[in-house]
Amino acid sequence: MGIGKLALFLLYAFLCQLVFSSSLPHLCPNDQALALLQFNNTFTINLDASSSDYDPKTVKWNKSTYCCSWDGVKCDETTGQVIELDLSSSQLRGKFHSNSSLFKLSNLKKLDLSDNDFFGSLISPKFGELSSLTHLDLSYSSFTGLIPEEISRLSKLHVLRIRSINQYDLRFGPHNFELLLKKLTQLRELDLYDMNISSTIPLKFSSYLTNLGLSYTQIYGILPEGVFHLSNLESLDFSNNPQLTVRFPTTKWNSSASLMKLCLSGVNATGRIPESFGHLTSLRKLELFSCNLSGSIPKPLWNLTNIEDLDLAYNHLEGPMSDLFRFGKLKWQSLENNNMDGQLEFLSFNRWMQFEFLDCSFNSLKVQFLLM
Ligand SMILES: *[C@@H]1O[C@H](CO)[C@@H](O)[C@H](O)[C@H]1NC(C)=O
Ligand SMILES: *[C@@H]1O[C@H](CO)[C@@H](O)[C@H](O)[C@H]1NC(C)=O
Ligand SMILES: *[C@@H]1O[C@H](CO)[C@@H](O)[C@H](O)[C@H]1NC(C)=O
Ligand SMILES: *[C@@H]1O[C@H](CO)[C@@H](O)[C@H](O)[C@H]1NC(C)=O
Ligand SMILES: *[C@@H]1O[C@H](CO)[C@@H](O)[C@H](O)[C@H]1NC(C)=O
Ligand SMILES: *[C@@H]1O[C@H](CO)[C@@H](O)[C@H](O)[C@H]1NC(C)=O
Ligand SMILES: *[C@@H]1O[C@H](CO)[C@@H](O)[C@H](O)[C@H]1NC(C)=O
Ligand SMILES: *[C@@H]1O[C@H](CO)[C@@H](O)[C@H](O)[C@H]1NC(C)=O
Repeated sequence: MGIGKLALFLLYAFLCQLVFSSSLPHLCPNDQALALLQFNNTFTINLDASSSDYDPKTVKWNKSTYCCSWDGVKCDETTGQVIELDLSSSQLRGKFHSNSSLFKLSNLKKLDLSDNDFFGSLISPKFGELSSLTHLDLSYSSFTGLIPEEISRLSKLHVLRIRSINQYDLRFGPHNFELLLKKLTQLRELDLYDMNISSTIPLKFSSYLTNLGLSYTQIYGILPEGVFHLSNLESLDFSNNPQLTVRFPTTKWNSSASLMKLCLSGVNATGRIPESFGHLTSLRKLELFSCNLSGSIPKPLWNLTNIEDLDLAYNHLEGPMSDLFRFGKLKWQSLENNNMDGQLEFLSFNRWMQFEFLDCSFNSLKVQFLLM
């Protein structure tokens, strides 16, 4: 080997070592690995489940490798601390106690424990100590009881999802829902389906919200108009809260350009659909089933050509139906049980090939088939 080649080789070896040593901090500290193993050891794994999302990650964890490489575990590149833990659909079964070693992972930013079976455990107030969390998902994991007030301390949260398996198994203590919305000023996504919130919606909430899902939550009172003016809002679902009164803004909403999904079935939206709906140009899904709506469907709505899914059934809507067929991308349309009239003309077979579902029954329609 010549001097030049040797120098090159040495340089190469040196670089390799640099790369290797810069990857050293990836190795997770022993206490973190131990906390993960202890956490796993408090559960059994249901290996014969037939769930389609079945993914028992902890079974594949290999104790002789560094925990940062374990399935569902992610570490900080500089400190080596565990910052993400995704154990969704991992078939974990057993009680989740407050002394869980999970709470030793104090640097966690993202924690997903959704779709496991914690046997009706309470949500520990200690979740409130994981103060770096930006994402927390405790959905469909058989937690029951009160949502601890301490969750409102997680002021960095961007995403909070807690869906109950059995309706109303989870609930908020008095004023704790208002407290949550007041304190979590960074929230982008709040998803609390099937939980007994039993509260009004406060006037102040994070202005960054993009997804707000509070279906089947027993919320009541008047929905603050500000919700419709969240300028990044993409999805709003307050359906099936019959004690909630919704009055749509009559002027252009600040969420007009971004809103893709509007689901308000089964709320009290007594009145007409305002023309301001015509500005919702991004709308893909509009569900206003059984809302006590009356009057005709305003003309500007015909222009919402991106709508694929439209459900206006069980209202008192009137006026001619035929124009609805201008919706360019409609796949699902449900308008049954209204007072609509006019004539539906199926002029060509192609025109209704686009539908996966179409129900216009129980109206005053004349239907004409001219299929050629
Ligand atoms: C995790 O727990 C399950 C069930 O107790 C066990 O089969 C598995 O070996 C554990 N994983 C590790 C890495 O200890
Ligand atoms: C665990 O990792 C060690 C070291 O990489 C390897 O020798 C061993 O085969 C692995 N065990 C399993 C069960 O994959
Ligand atoms: C954690 O708490 C439970 C219930 O109080 C108890 O049965 C268990 O022994 C405790 N575990 C440890 C490691 O202290
Ligand atoms: C919901 O909670 C409220 C008060 O917290 C209670 O009065 C009501 O009965 C609960 N509703 C259901 C359906 O559990
Ligand atoms: C809509 O957005 C504009 C510009 O950000 C803001 O000035 C206005 O107050 C918002 N309107 C409502 C009703 O929130
Ligand atoms: C429904 O909304 C209308 C109009 O906003 C209101 O007058 C009525 O009292 C509400 N009904 C219920 C049951 O809240
Ligand atoms: C439905 O609307 C009618 C008026 O159109 C009103 O008299 C009635 O109280 C409303 N029903 C509910 C449950 O709010
Ligand atoms: C709807 O579209 C028609 C024709 O493209 C246009 O003349 C009308 O101004 C539009 N209405 C609204 C509310 O955008």
